[in-house]
This record gives sequence, structure tokens and C-alpha cells, in this order.
Amino acid sequence: MIKLSVNINKIATIRNARGGSSPSVLEAAINCQKFGADGITIHPRPDERHITNKDVYAIKPIITTEYNIEGYPSVDFIKMVIAVKPGQVTLVPDGPNVLTSCAGWNTIRFQDYLKEIISAFKEHGIRTSIFVDPKVEMIEGAKLCGTDRVELYTEEYATQYRLDKTKAILPYVEAADKATELGIGINAGHDLNLENLEYFAKHISNLDEVSIGHALISDAIYLGLENTIQMYKRLL
Ligand code: PXP
Repeated sequence: MIKLSVNINKIATIRNARGGSSPSVLEAAINCQKFGADGITIHPRPDERHITNKDVYAIKPIITTEYNIEGYPSVDFIKMVIAVKPGQVTLVPDGPNVLTSCAGWNTIRFQDYLKEIISAFKEHGIRTSIFVDPKVEMIEGAKLCGTDRVELYTEEYATQYRLDKTKAILPYVEAADKATELGIGINAGHDLNLENLEYFAKHISNLDEVSIGHALISDAIYLGLENTIQMYKRLL
């Protein structure tokens, strides 16, 4: 079964627009799990523009599925994740000012750096995943970093899907096959939606988990959160 982890950043974005506590991210996390999500993902950023550091701690006790914290591994991020101890940490190489994650790690160039950080998380029993482009050499580099999983960055797939889905999926199939060969688990995320998810899930063997935020929360405006989560789950 491929797990669906719902990224609830957008709930925090709406909440922060008015500076109050509504809509509640805690309630959203509780309900996503009640409606069938297999995990909750958050991506705290240094400017706390959506998920705040306080949220990161507050969400932990209500998790009944899997808690996945994504982010750039700054010293503060590493300390916070080790204190909160989620089931999984996903390392993303984005700078503080990017709108959203926009590239995968260069796992060759940053191998020593990633290796050290990954081993620190693993010492605390936290499963590690690193965000990578679908390139065989980046998967081989990821293996040398000691990560448990990679998260395949699917923006390019989503963009190309409408033009030529057979071509769009190819690098992902190759990267996923390499990951499987090397014994690395496979996650995927970014711009996955009701239109492109099923094809991706069908063609990527051994896909463990997808994390979806923007499209899913947007769909929920029209379709309702429970119905939307069920629709995504059915595609998996
Ligand atoms: N994976 C990573 C590393 C991300 O940064 C994001 C966006 O926060 C996602 C997955 C989910 O992307 P989307 O919001 O487009 O579903």
C-alpha cells in the first residue's frame, strides 16, 4: 500500500493570514488522519510564514499515523527535529527565501555534510529521507549518504505529464529502480494532484509514500476534506 501523507502547510497559511488560531492546524491534522491520511507532513521554514515552531511541537502528540517533518537542515531545524522525534525527517536543500522547494540535493557534492546529519537523526531513531531529482547518480550518491529513503522531486513530472506522460515518467522509473536495487525506500512529492497521481503510482514500483499539500488542500475547498482524501487514497 502506498501511503498518503497530507502536507498541512496551507492550513497554517490561511490561519496566519488573520493572525489568529483559525483554521486550527491541530484540528486539520486530527481530521486528515480520521479521514484516511496515513501521515501528516509539515515544512517549517525559518520565517514561520506557515507552520510555526510552536506548531511543530504541538502537532506531535496528536499524531496517530506518521509524522514527517521536512526542511533545510539548519542547526535550529536539526535541534528541533531531534527534540520532537517524528517518524521521518525529509531533508530539503532550499534556501530561506524560496517560495517552495525547487531542487533536489546534489548528493555527491554534499555527501559528507548529509552523511553527518543523517547519522545524527538515525542515532535518535528518526527515519531519514532526502529530496532528490530523478537522476540515477543522485540516487547512488544518496546511498553513500546513508539515507533510509529518497523523496523524488516530482515537479518536472507534473509539468511534463500533460505534454507526454510516457516520457515524463521515464527518469522516475529509472531512479526508482536504482533506489530499489540499492535498498533505499522511495517517497515522492511536489505538484502531485488528482490528475497525475494515479499514473505515477502505477508506474513507480516500490513507491512507499507520497506527500501532497497544495493540490489536495485546494481540492478540499470544493470537494470537502474527507472526500478529497478518500479520492487521493483511491488513486493510490
Ligand atoms: N515535498 C517537499 C519536499 C515539499 O517541499 C513539498 C511542498 O511543501 C511537497 C513535497 C508537497 O508539494 P505540494 O504542496 O506541491 O503537494
